[in-house]
Amino acid sequence: MQTPKRYLVTSALPYANGPQHFGHLAGAYIPADVYVRYLRMMGEEVLFICGSDEHGAAITLQAKKEGNSPRDIIDKYHPINKAAFQKLGISFDIYHRTSDPLHHETSKAFFKVLHEKGIFVEKESEQFYDEEYNQFLADRYIKGTCPKCANENAYGDQCEKCGSDLSPTELINPLSTLSGKQPVLKTTKHWYLPMGKFQDAVKKWVDESQTSEKWKKHVLGQCNSWLDQGLNDRSMTRDLDWGVEVPLPDAEGKVLYVWLDAPIGYISATKALTDDWATYWQSEDTKLVHFIGKDNIVFHCIIFPMLLQLHGDYVLPTNIPANQFMNLEGDKMSTSRNYAVWLYEYLKDFPDMEDVLRYALISNMPENKDSDFSWKDFQARNNNELVGILGNLVNRVLVLTHKYFDGTIPAISEEAETAILQKAEDVYDYLMAFPHELDKAIHHYEFRNGLKELINLARVGNKFLTDLEPWKLVKQDKEQTAKILAICLELIARLGVYAEPFLPFTATKIKDMLNLDEEAVQRVLKGSFRVKEGYEVSKPTLLFKKLDDKVIQPQIDKLQAIKDAKDAAKKAELAATDATYEPVKDTISYEDFSKLDIRTGTILTAEKIKKANKLLKLTVDLGFEVRTVVSGIAKQFDPEAIIGQKVLFLANLAPRKMRGVESQGMILMAASGEKLGFVAAMDEEMGNGLMIS
Ligand code: 2FM
Ligand code: ZN
Repeated sequence: MQTPKRYLVTSALPYANGPQHFGHLAGAYIPADVYVRYLRMMGEEVLFICGSDEHGAAITLQAKKEGNSPRDIIDKYHPINKAAFQKLGISFDIYHRTSDPLHHETSKAFFKVLHEKGIFVEKESEQFYDEEYNQFLADRYIKGTCPKCANENAYGDQCEKCGSDLSPTELINPLSTLSGKQPVLKTTKHWYLPMGKFQDAVKKWVDESQTSEKWKKHVLGQCNSWLDQGLNDRSMTRDLDWGVEVPLPDAEGKVLYVWLDAPIGYISATKALTDDWATYWQSEDTKLVHFIGKDNIVFHCIIFPMLLQLHGDYVLPTNIPANQFMNLEGDKMSTSRNYAVWLYEYLKDFPDMEDVLRYALISNMPENKDSDFSWKDFQARNNNELVGILGNLVNRVLVLTHKYFDGTIPAISEEAETAILQKAEDVYDYLMAFPHELDKAIHHYEFRNGLKELINLARVGNKFLTDLEPWKLVKQDKEQTAKILAICLELIARLGVYAEPFLPFTATKIKDMLNLDEEAVQRVLKGSFRVKEGYEVSKPTLLFKKLDDKVIQPQIDKLQAIKDAKDAAKKAELAATDATYEPVKDTISYEDFSKLDIRTGTILTAEKIKKANKLLKLTVDLGFEVRTVVSGIAKQFDPEAIIGQKVLFLANLAPRKMRGVESQGMILMAASGEKLGFVAAMDEEMGNGLMIS
């Protein structure tokens, strides 16, 4: 795209089903805020949109867990999240809600346009149903083992571990998350988006997008892998009583799929913010950028753009700079086991330290790969970088300016100016290059690098001060001393101005201490700001304070206690299990073992055997040939759910006939009573026919 006229920036609408933690903040909110604050500072027209995602199973399941209504849940968490973001300086122009009537209207209208264009396919199909709860089970209502990565906690729409898009019937061992029981199949009608039919247009758009602005490698990689596999039909409606009602006469009890209505939330929030919303959403010269976490990539890079293309009235995103995940002390953050640092907790435990968190999260942002937050790193960054470099520079220069000149830069002779300017070449070189490097970093969504540039600027200032030692020079030459401090103040003015996107609270404090008004800020941005005779600075206040081990250790201990509790629970679970273990069998020789020919394989087909309720007839691809086997796993697995499953296969077991079918080997299974699991801890890419030895 040519130079955009205006920017429309969105952050993923978080579910209002719980508080937000560090991982969320580092994923989709801080990067967007840095970007937006920078754009605003550079005088760009920009809207920053966010709000609560208040529909879907995430909300209704939390309501069930807390014994409340969905309405109670969203009314509880929406204000908590809104306040935490605000406290941390996330400068949304609006933090809207998808429960708002304006959002319902907007999503219904969007759906209707597509329906009237004949885009959706109306289909009846058999879907999982929980008979105890009288409810169809889609999305998070159903859990099971991911057929792609064997994660046992994959949801009916997505495996959060490997990012695969799933449908409930693909899950191995599907279980209702309501009753914990095996579901039954029941017929229901839904409106599907036949994504395969429209995928070429999306592919073209993805490819062409790269010519104007390259997407992150991992984002593009995920999109291409989806598109290469081919897109399936995806139901855009659900059988639920919470959500946006499907605006059709024959759709009672049905609501829009949350992943249809949520991104439309960006549009409805803009409508709630300004009458000028259409200029933003419907002009080609708007640059739309979605900030999200990696688990949202497919929805923002494929499904929503497809819907926007089909609708026809809206701009498509220019970029979707998704972040990867941030771990915590080496472990995955997890809401369900309370393993996270919640924003409201941080704000309570570390008052007035919002920028320290912003700094620690930006320095360690998972821009291209997962990163890890540790309290020790947080402490080190605060003590060594914020206190030791940035705070130290600002404090030293202001203290010296007050000590030697009562806070006002005196007249400086030309001779003294020249003498010091000669020694300040490195400083001016850095000052010249700095805004360009920062600008490049921000426009490439490299916020870690941008922050590095900023802290390096402070480093340059500290080095200049240490090299020129004004505290010694002052005894011989006060004018040269004044010039050193004037140069440092010019540098600090840049720090104050350019810190704004990253550390907004600190930026304000620095600007205040330097008495920089808006006009001076503009001169800093243009590179024409100079500190001359009569320039006055206020008395310094400390920007940051050192963090002691005694403040940090309790945080580490708290997380360790959660990890310990998890380990203890696992041990207790194992101890309480009624699984009985057979004694280890007699020792065999290696020769005995090597008689077994165990191979890797993939289940190709699976079908029930008539009048044998325990048996399935399977064909297994062993790479060098396809074998037929009869396997006693019909009670545990639906045939269609295990197609594609990787297995270990005993290939030289003597064939035998079962129910008229010759079984030519055996699939190895882990068994505990009635419970069965496939034994195949193999990489997806590993071929079939490999020998196990
Ligand atoms: O993953 C989530 O938390 C979703 N609520 C994000 C929605 S983003 C957008 F589409 F609204
Ligand atoms: Zn998976």
